[in-house]
Amino acid sequence: MRAPFLSAYPLLLSALAGVHALPAARSDSGAITPLTSSQIDAFEPYSWYASTGYCNSSVTLAWDCGANCDANPRFKPVASGGDGDATQYWFVGYDPVLDAVIVSHQGTDATKLLPVLTDVDILLVELDSDLFPGISSEIKVEQGFQGAQEKVAMDVLTAVQTTINTYGTSHVTMVGHSLGAAISLLDAVYLPLHITDASFTYIGYGLPRVGNQEFANYVDASAVSVTHINNKEDPVPILPGMFLGYVHPSGEVHIEDSGEWAACPGQDNPSTQCIVGDVPEIWDGDASDHPGPYGGVEMVC
Ligand SMILES: *[C@@H]1O[C@H](CO)[C@@H](O)[C@H](O)[C@H]1NC(C)=O
Repeated sequence: MRAPFLSAYPLLLSALAGVHALPAARSDSGAITPLTSSQIDAFEPYSWYASTGYCNSSVTLAWDCGANCDANPRFKPVASGGDGDATQYWFVGYDPVLDAVIVSHQGTDATKLLPVLTDVDILLVELDSDLFPGISSEIKVEQGFQGAQEKVAMDVLTAVQTTINTYGTSHVTMVGHSLGAAISLLDAVYLPLHITDASFTYIGYGLPRVGNQEFANYVDASAVSVTHINNKEDPVPILPGMFLGYVHPSGEVHIEDSGEWAACPGQDNPSTQCIVGDVPEIWDGDASDHPGPYGGVEMVC
């Protein structure tokens, strides 16, 4: 059953909130601190790479996609794929200024994502043990995100290994917006299981919740540096609901109405300066905040 989210969600929330225990709020949340302007500016090339994820695979491979490609003119594309329909576009290449492999996946519209993320039958499933060797079966992720990541996982891994070998770098940065942020977060678990001699950074934008408490804890305990940036009252990052067992990893940065970027420590920080406190329910959200702007970058090709 697919729940039309505006009508069914309040009922669903009130029906289930009473019977499902909410995950315990983490009490280790330290102070919320504003990012400096130089810290904010440092995200800009990654914001453009996330936005470029929306461009088709022909133009990203040629690095000829207009403003998005022109914003990172030094980029060396290595591989791209997807069809923008059944499979999200993706690209992999090398940024010589950042000295990093860049991995980016296409996202989707809030109007397409919200009905899926508020579906009462949304499913948490185990990761595939061939793709994710040794991963605990306690770790569960949303089925649709898992399918989208699995479809291209091996092509992305091959492209990352080729880029490392070609350019001699040992750093991999994974970016994405929306659905693309979710796919890239799964890459942030997947790629380090296969590439052991590199360091990894993840920067997501408008990230929905991808998995359960064990998933969030695994990401937090891993060596991957994780940042997920939420814009104002975007409802996507508060979905799927915590009452369904979904938890964000730490690393939230929340762009507030004032324009301040707040670093929100812990998982799902409940402060009103962070997305969970600012957007307590889906009807407090504004889907037009989903595409951005994130520091001046709108997520569109
Ligand atoms: C890719 O995008 C470019 C620029 O928008 C467009 O001209 C081209 O037709 C597209 N190609 C495919 C295969 O969709």
